[in-house]
Amino acid sequence: MYLTREEESVLDGSQGESARKAMELIVALGKIYDADSLIKITSAHISGASYKTIGDGGLRYLEDMSKDARVKVKATLNPLGMDRKRWKEMKISEEFAEKQLRIIKLYEKMGVITTCSCIPYLCDNVPSFGDHVAWAESSALSFVNSCIGARTNREGGPGALAAAIVGRTANYGLHLDENRAPTVIIDADIDDTLFHHSLLGQAVGSVIAGGIPYFRNISPDTEAMKTMAAAMAAAGSVAMFHVDGVTPESSLYDVSSLEVIHIGKKEMSDAHASLSTSDDAQLIAFGCPHLTVREMTEMASFLKDKKKKRNDVDIWFCTSSAVRESCPDQVRVLERFGPVLADTCMVVAPIEPNYQRTGTNSAKAGNYLPTLCSQKVLCNDFAKLMEMVL
Ligand code: F3S
Repeated sequence: MYLTREEESVLDGSQGESARKAMELIVALGKIYDADSLIKITSAHISGASYKTIGDGGLRYLEDMSKDARVKVKATLNPLGMDRKRWKEMKISEEFAEKQLRIIKLYEKMGVITTCSCIPYLCDNVPSFGDHVAWAESSALSFVNSCIGARTNREGGPGALAAAIVGRTANYGLHLDENRAPTVIIDADIDDTLFHHSLLGQAVGSVIAGGIPYFRNISPDTEAMKTMAAAMAAAGSVAMFHVDGVTPESSLYDVSSLEVIHIGKKEMSDAHASLSTSDDAQLIAFGCPHLTVREMTEMASFLKDKKKKRNDVDIWFCTSSAVRESCPDQVRVLERFGPVLADTCMVVAPIEPNYQRTGTNSAKAGNYLPTLCSQKVLCNDFAKLMEMVL
């Protein structure tokens, strides 16, 4: 693999031990995937922010890296294990909170922007078409590949951090034109609701596992594409998709010879059944991926004249601090039902000591709540979940 003189010198330690380690990791990944060179990136998005997911080992790694590492490009961070101001409402222990706050400080020391959302592409890290970036967080990286036309592989947390520190990533996979072509057509027959787009992502991710689906017969908006991206990445390992006439690269390819898979009522019903393991919930959590202003507005409009009647069910609305601050009127309505939590979510927060059954309208959360949080899951759309407590 070709390295420039500057890249060689970073590998030799000229910019410090952490930069050397970061370059070593990027070069090793490049060799594994047969990259011809490194490419400059314009941004990174780093996962591995929650103390629940990285533990003491991750904390020590960050302490080590932050001794002399600083990011060279704009770098944002995925959700934390708690709302940094309202963690007591989430029943988080003092010990967890103390370690989580240390993790935030370590990322800040390295120059990472710590607004901590999984939708940074709508807030403070917005790539442009054609940008090479290094993003972790499977839903976000699929969104920027597919809906913006930026280019990233499916990075892990350490890989994204290393790329941010050296400002480069290895040139392979989805950075190359030839690997961005659709591999299968999805002929979708679904209702035009957010929940159905989530189930569509679940059905497609389960059937194709990997590859690049090309959707026909749907016209998803931003929110629908974010939930599809999340579901396909969780049910399978899809890192990019096209939607006929909607996504920016959908017209670049001849898809006439591709296999066609039909997703209709039966497949949607199977997808729904595969996510549902409970018929009630102690916690109902919305915002996977994080809620947008538009989602918060629609939820507030649905709830504005209603009262919560059941007190044995907690409700969380998860979003970024930027979104929470930008729509105080909606927050006021939603907070009558449960906290609007910033920069955290139901999956990366340590919910398992307090809850065993969780309701969600997200197929991604439906995949991860059983495996990462030991939850039984009630998966349904927003209105049906809320009807349980009204
Ligand atoms: Fe975001 Fe947490 Fe879901 S990080 S995509 S809300 S699992």
